Amino acid sequence: MKALRVVDLVKRYGDLEAVKGIGFEVSEGEVFALVGPNGAGKSTTLKICATILEASSGTLEVFGLDLRRDAAKARSLLSYLPEEAGAYRHLTGLQYLRFMAGIFVDDGDRAKACVEEAARLSGLGPRLEDRIKTYSKGMTRKLLLARTVMARPRLAILDEPTSGLDVLNAVEVRGLVRALAAGGMSFLVSSHNMLEVEFLSDRVAILAGGRILDCDTAAGLKRRHSAANLEEVFVRIAR
Ligand SMILES: Nc1ncnc2c1ncn2[C@@H]1O[C@H](COP(=O)(O)OP(=O)(O)O)[C@@H](O)[C@H]1O
Ligand SMILES: [Mg+2]
Repeated sequence: MKALRVVDLVKRYGDLEAVKGIGFEVSEGEVFALVGPNGAGKSTTLKICATILEASSGTLEVFGLDLRRDAAKARSLLSYLPEEAGAYRHLTGLQYLRFMAGIFVDDGDRAKACVEEAARLSGLGPRLEDRIKTYSKGMTRKLLLARTVMARPRLAILDEPTSGLDVLNAVEVRGLVRALAAGGMSFLVSSHNMLEVEFLSDRVAILAGGRILDCDTAAGLKRRHSAANLEEVFVRIAR
């Protein structure tokens, strides 16, 4: 069974058709990336998959559950990291993780285990005792990512997980996503950075102007378009 199935997805904002009938599938344990320039429709697509926004038309399934008919059940299987996510700046990292576990996990013992797991995954160590307002952007992003995956969702939807991060933080975040995927978690991620998704994802869909221009493994895209990297692929097919 597929972690996510998207068929003929259309999203209109008034007169603007932001997503123009796209389709793709994410397998279990796969990291699938939507990559494309600003305004391509990445965040819109991710919000719809995360049940934050309603599609204008199309079919979406999360582990076989229809997002319209079984929204609550589907929602319980997924977790979403928004592009512009913030955290409560006056809390410490640890307090924030405890607070979020209290919301998302009913069972007290399990909530505690989730917090321990998230603390480990964040890689923030003793800095978890400090207030979030003292964190760099990279540290905050790692904390939010740890929050997103701490309850072990079967599908994690991450909007620009490494945007604005320095190299070391970006490498750490990519490593964390790859490790979780190796453990069976499925990922739908977006990025406007064509070079980076090559190292993050198993397959890539190139999105521009609300349409998928091509979709394949990075190696497949490069081979078929005789390109050295995905940026070159994009330049060839976007013309
Ligand atoms: N809430 C909204 N209302 C109207 N237009 C929107 C809204 N959100 C996004 N758009 C427009 O939809 C298009 C796709 O946006 P978005 O999904 O955010 O793209 P991306 O994440 O790839 O940058 C853009 O033209 C954007 O301006
Ligand atoms: Mg976006």
